[in-house]
Amino acid sequence: MRVEGEGGGAGVPAGGSGETVVFRVRRYDPESGVGPYYQEYEVPYRPGMTVLDGLLHILREVDQTLSLRYSCRQKICGSCAMLINGRERLACETQVAEVGRTVTMEPLPHLPVIKDLVVDVEPFLDKMKASMPYLIPRSDSENIRVPPEEFERYRVASDCIWCAACYSACPAAYSNPYYLGPAALGQLFRFEVDSREDPSVKPLRLVIADDDCAGVWRCHQAHACSEVCPKHINPGELIAELKREVLRARISGRI
Ligand code: SF4
Ligand code: FES
Repeated sequence: MRVEGEGGGAGVPAGGSGETVVFRVRRYDPESGVGPYYQEYEVPYRPGMTVLDGLLHILREVDQTLSLRYSCRQKICGSCAMLINGRERLACETQVAEVGRTVTMEPLPHLPVIKDLVVDVEPFLDKMKASMPYLIPRSDSENIRVPPEEFERYRVASDCIWCAACYSACPAAYSNPYYLGPAALGQLFRFEVDSREDPSVKPLRLVIADDDCAGVWRCHQAHACSEVCPKHINPGELIAELKREVLRARISGRI
C-alpha cells in the first residue's frame, strides 16, 4: 500500500504492514549541468524510522547515485543537517512520523551544493575557525575551580556540533558574506566568558566580536538560528550576551 503525500507533512504514517512513504529529494549535480529537479522514491515505512534511515534505504536498495553526508547517526557529528520539509534539521534525529507522509529533502540553503544533499561547508568552517573555538589556557588553569554560575553561562554552548543549521537559517549570514554567523559568535562567547582562559586573549576575542562587518552588530536578533538548532543552544541569546560583553569592555576601556 502506498500512502500518498498530502502537501509535504500533512498526516503521519500509521505504521501498518506494507505501508510506504514518499521521499522527495532535490537532485543536482553542478558538474553534469543536469537539474536541479526533484525525484520521488517510495520507501517502506516502519515505526521509529528516521529520515536518514529512509535515505540509506534508497542509497542501498534503490539508487546508488544519490549523494548525502552522514557519519555518527546519533546527533553527534552534525554532518547530516539538511532542509527537511522546509526546515533545517538533522536527518538522523528527525522521525518520519514527525514530518508526515511526504518528506521533502533539500541541501542546506546558503551554502554551495556539491551534489544532491551534500553542501560545501568550507565557508561555514572558515568562520568557525575565525572565532578561535578553543581555550587558550592561563598558566594556572589546572588549579582553577569553575563556579557553577560561570559554567552555566557556557554549558549549553559547549554542546555545539558544528552542523551549520543555524548558519543556513540566518538571514544576516545570507545577506552578508563576511558576517561570522550564529555558531561562530556563539563559540566566541563560550570561550570569552571562560575564566580558565589566558586573560591576555580576551581583548582579541572582543575585538573580533566588535567588528563592524563580521561581528555581533550584524545580528538583528531574528532568532531563526535558535529555532532550528538541534542542540537547543539559542545562539541568538549568546550573541545578545556577547554584545553586552563588548559594550562593557568598551566602557571600561578594555578594547
Ligand atoms: S549552534 Fe546549533 S545549529 Fe548552530 S552549528 Fe551549533 S549545533 Fe548546529
Ligand atoms: S549523522 Fe551525525 S549528526 Fe546526524
